[in-house]
Amino acid sequence: MKAEGIAGMTPALVILVLALSTGTLALDNGLMRTPPMGWLAWERFRCDIDCDHDPKNCISENLFMDMADRLAEDGWRELGYVYVNIDDCWSSMERDANGRLQADPKRFPNGIPHLARYVHDRGLKLGIYGDFGTHTCGGYPGTTLDKIQTDAQTFADWGIDMLKLDGCYSNATEQEKGYPLMSQALNATGRPIGYSCSWPAYQGGLPPKVNYTQLGEICNLWRNYGDIQDSWSSVLNIADWFFTNQDILQPAAGPGRWNDPDMLVIGDFGLSFDQSQTQMALWAIMAAPLFMSNDLRSIDARSRTILQNKGLIYINQDPLGIQGRRLIKEQSGVEVFWRPLSNDASALVFFSRREDMPYRYQTSLKKLNYTAGVYQAYDVYQEKLLPAFKDSTDFVVSINPSGVVMWFVVPTKQMMGDGKLFGGDRLAKPTHL
Ligand code: GLA
Repeated sequence: MKAEGIAGMTPALVILVLALSTGTLALDNGLMRTPPMGWLAWERFRCDIDCDHDPKNCISENLFMDMADRLAEDGWRELGYVYVNIDDCWSSMERDANGRLQADPKRFPNGIPHLARYVHDRGLKLGIYGDFGTHTCGGYPGTTLDKIQTDAQTFADWGIDMLKLDGCYSNATEQEKGYPLMSQALNATGRPIGYSCSWPAYQGGLPPKVNYTQLGEICNLWRNYGDIQDSWSSVLNIADWFFTNQDILQPAAGPGRWNDPDMLVIGDFGLSFDQSQTQMALWAIMAAPLFMSNDLRSIDARSRTILQNKGLIYINQDPLGIQGRRLIKEQSGVEVFWRPLSNDASALVFFSRREDMPYRYQTSLKKLNYTAGVYQAYDVYQEKLLPAFKDSTDFVVSINPSGVVMWFVVPTKQMMGDGKLFGGDRLAKPTHL
C-alpha cells in the first residue's frame, strides 16, 4: 500500500482497506492477538554471568524471580506486562546426556521448570531464548535442524510460554528451513508457545529476501532490524528505519503477528524524559511488542509513569491491531504519526527532531486527512481532555526537542461524558484486561 494511496482516503476507508488487506492467515496458535507486553533481560543485563562478583545483576534465576515479583507487585501485571523473558546466556555450555538443553546449574540451581512455576504462580508467563544455528550469539549451544523437535519439546515440558529464536551461526538457506520447522514443532507440542523470530533481522528486513506473508503464518512476532542500545541515537535509528519502510512493514502486522522494533529502554541510562516519552509513543503507534529491558527494582518514578500510562497502553493494545504510519515529515523537523483505532478513534503523535527549544507546530485535522466533523482530543501524556474542535480548525501543539505530543482523537459523538476514556464501557477494552 503506497503512502499516496492512503493519503487520499478518509480514515474510515483506510481502516476498512487495511483490515481487509491484513486478513491473511496468522500463526494458528491463537496467541498474541494484541502486541505482547512484558520484560526481557537482554538490553539491560546482557550476558553478565559473574554471579560471584555481581550477584544482583547476573543472569540467574534470582534476577528473573526479582523481576517477576516486581511485575506482580508494582502494578505492571494488571496493565498487561505479563511476560518475564530470559535471553541469551542462560544455558549450560553442554547439552545433557539425552541431548537436551539444560540451564547453567550454578546460576539456575532449581532449573527452568521451577522458575516457570514461580512465574506462573504470580499470574505471569515465562519466555526463553534459543538460537537457530550452531551457537547462540553469545556462544552457548544452538538449535540445529536435528535438534528442533527436542528443543521445542523441552521448552513445552518446562512450561515455557514464549520462545525468541535468534539466528546467529546459521545461513539464509538453513533459516528458510529452520524457522518454519520450529513453528511446526512448537505447535506439535500442544502447549501454546508464542514464537518470536529473529529471521528477518538476519536477512536485512526487506523483500525479496524477507517474505512477510510467510512470517505472519509461522511467527507471532519478528525482529526486523538491528539490536536496540541504551541511547537516543539507537532509538531514533530504529524508528527511522521502521517508518522509512512502512509501506512494506505496516501491512505485515495484525493480530497475532507483529513487527518488533526491539525492547523499550525507558528507565535505563540513555534517554531523557522527553526521549522516553517519544520511544513509548512511537512504539504504540507501531503496534510494537512492549518488552521493557530495565531494572524494575530501582526504576525511577517518571519512567514508571511513562511505561504505566494507561492511554499509551490502550492505544498500543487496540484490538484492531493496525500498525500506524508516518503521515508527514516537515522541513521544520516535525513529524506526524497516525494510527487508526477501533470505534472510529485514532492516535496522533507530533514529534520534534529539533534541538533548539519547544516548537509551536500549527496544523488541523483536515490537513491530516481526517473526515469533516467535530472531534475531541485527549492529550495522553498531560492526561487532559481538550475542548471539541472542527476538522478545519487550526490548532497549535508545543513539542519539546526530541519529544512528542500524543493525542487520542475521537469524533464527538463517541466521547465519554465524563472524559474518562480508558476504562469506560463505551470503548472496547484491551483483550488482556
Ligand atoms: C542478538 C539479538 C539480541 C540478543 C543477543 C543475545 O544480538 O538480536 O536481541 O538476543 O543476540 O546474544
